[in-house]
This record gives sequence, C-alpha cells and structure tokens, in this order.
Amino acid sequence: MKEWYQKIQSAGCMQELEELRIAILGKKGVLAEQFAKMKDIENKQKAEFAKRLNIAKSEFNKLFNEQKTILQARELESLLKSQQIDVSLYSATSNSGALHPVMQTMEKIVEYFTSMNFSIEMGSMIEDDFHNFEALNLPKYHPARDMQDTFYFKDEMLLRTHTSPVQVRTMLHAKPPIRMISPGAVFRRDYDITHTPMFHQVEGLLVDKEGTVSFANLKFILEDFLKYMFGEVDVRFRPSFFPFTEPSTEVDISCVFCKGEGCRVCSHTGWLEVLGCGIVDENVFKAVGYKDVSGYAFGLGVERFAMLIHHIGDLRSLFEGDIRLLGQFV
Ligand code: PHE
Repeated sequence: MKEWYQKIQSAGCMQELEELRIAILGKKGVLAEQFAKMKDIENKQKAEFAKRLNIAKSEFNKLFNEQKTILQARELESLLKSQQIDVSLYSATSNSGALHPVMQTMEKIVEYFTSMNFSIEMGSMIEDDFHNFEALNLPKYHPARDMQDTFYFKDEMLLRTHTSPVQVRTMLHAKPPIRMISPGAVFRRDYDITHTPMFHQVEGLLVDKEGTVSFANLKFILEDFLKYMFGEVDVRFRPSFFPFTEPSTEVDISCVFCKGEGCRVCSHTGWLEVLGCGIVDENVFKAVGYKDVSGYAFGLGVERFAMLIHHIGDLRSLFEGDIRLLGQFV
C-alpha cells in the first residue's frame, strides 16, 4: 500500500493522477481485487479484513483529493503565467474616437475669433420670423427671403436659416460695444453636392460707437483670418448684396486646388467664394433700438471650409457617417 501512497503523492499532472485513481479505486483496481478476496476469508477474520480495506479506501480518497488540489493550484498558476496580459500595452486593434472634421474646422474658426477677443454666443435652432428675418431688414414678402429656402412650422416659427438671429438677440439684451461670434447648425431646403439641409455657420458681429468701425477693420480681420485658415492665399472682396449689411461684399480666396490657375472646382475662375460680410445696415440697429453706433458683420459656412481644407468633393459624404472617410481625420 505504501508504494501506492507514494505514487499518488508524486503524480505530476491531473492525467497521471486519474490513471492512478482508476488503477487503485476503479472496478478492476487494486482495492476491488482485495475486496474480491473476501469470499475466501474465514468468517472470523472477515470483519477485520473489511475494516482494513475500508480504512485504506478512505485514505486513498483523502490522498487523491489532496493531490488533486495541489495539482489544480499548480496548473492554474502556470496558466496565469502563460496568459499574463500587459494592460499597459497599446492594442493594434483599438479605435479611438475623434471630432468630426466639420467640428474640427469649427473649433479652429472659433479659436481664431476667441483669440481676437470675440465672445461666443449661442441661440436656439427654432426661431421666429422676427429674429430670423424681420429684425434683419427682411420684411415679409421681401424678395431676398428667397435667398434662404426656409423650413416653416406653424405660427411663424421656423428652423433658423442662419445664425444671425443670435446677433439680434444679443443686441436686444446687451449694450454696445459688442464683439461676438455665433457658431451653430442652420437649416435650408437644399440638397446637392455643395448643399445639405442642415449645415453649420459661424457668423460674427462687431458694434461700437458711430464712426469707429470701418470697412477697413473688417477687411483686415477677414484677410488675417483666411490666411490663418488656408495658409498663403490671395483674398479679394467682391461687391454683393445682403439685406442686413450695406455695403455688402462676398469674399473669395485664390483656389486652393489649382492655386489660381483655374480648375473644375473654381469653375476655371481661379477664385473660391468663402464668406459674406458687410457694414451693418441702419435698419438692423433700428430694429434692436441701437443709436449712434456702427458695426460690421460676416458669415461663413463651416462645411465649405472643411471641404476646401481637406479637399473633399461632395459635401453630402460628410454626413453619411462612413468610417472609411471619417477615420482619415482622427
Ligand atoms: N447671414 C448670411 C447668410 O447666412 C451671412 C452673412 C452674415 C452675410 C453677415 C453678411 C453679413 O447667408
């Protein structure tokens, strides 16, 4: 028996232990063999013999269980060692999120103007006719309302077509001087490769005492801003019309694709339109109750900037959520 005890205690793995268990306690095992001898033993010694065998059996069971525990612990330890994970390692498959390219562009634009001491003002996407149109010198039935195809709700409510109503609201509750930008989503009924029904604008407004704000101030800051955004480009101001500014201009930069040579993107003109701006119309100041002030205003589409900076051909692709496109801007 002793020699069997030793064998159990030196079993090196679970499989070896199981083989021993079968050899000792199994149906044809050593103990079964001994129990089979019972029938040949005299009655007097039978009880004693059986007792000894039962003690041996329980001793074996105890030893098996002890060795099993030892082996299991040893196996677990070596498994843990072989599967050790360095949690501080970078995973080649991990994906990190990032700002959408439109938001990255928006941040860069906002960064420029906040560094120039413009405050950021936010407003509601649902507006009323007064703040979106009327106060901006766009009375009802004014033909210029057609410039901005509008989504209307009931009761003269609408989805704002630009962020200019934020300027109106700011002027209504604050006194000049004002130096603000209004970034945010705007909505128009438009859908083609350069228009989506929702897009983002950053508009700016500066108001100060009469005679202190000139077109030259506006020209300087916009030229500086456009060079900050696009690098070394030429900038030109082209006469235009907006109901809320007079005089008004549109601002072009030399085409970032062909460097002004003329290509498909700039319709072979060498120029790309990027901004609208002007000197704030007297009627706007009247609508908000401002007197003896002068100011300039400008507005731009963030998606258009993002497309030009990243050379994206179709505006709609920015809103399809395609990871293959968005992954390039991480
Ligand atoms: N609000 C104009 C638009 O959305 C942009 C603009 C703002 C133009 C300020 C001139 C001055 O089209």
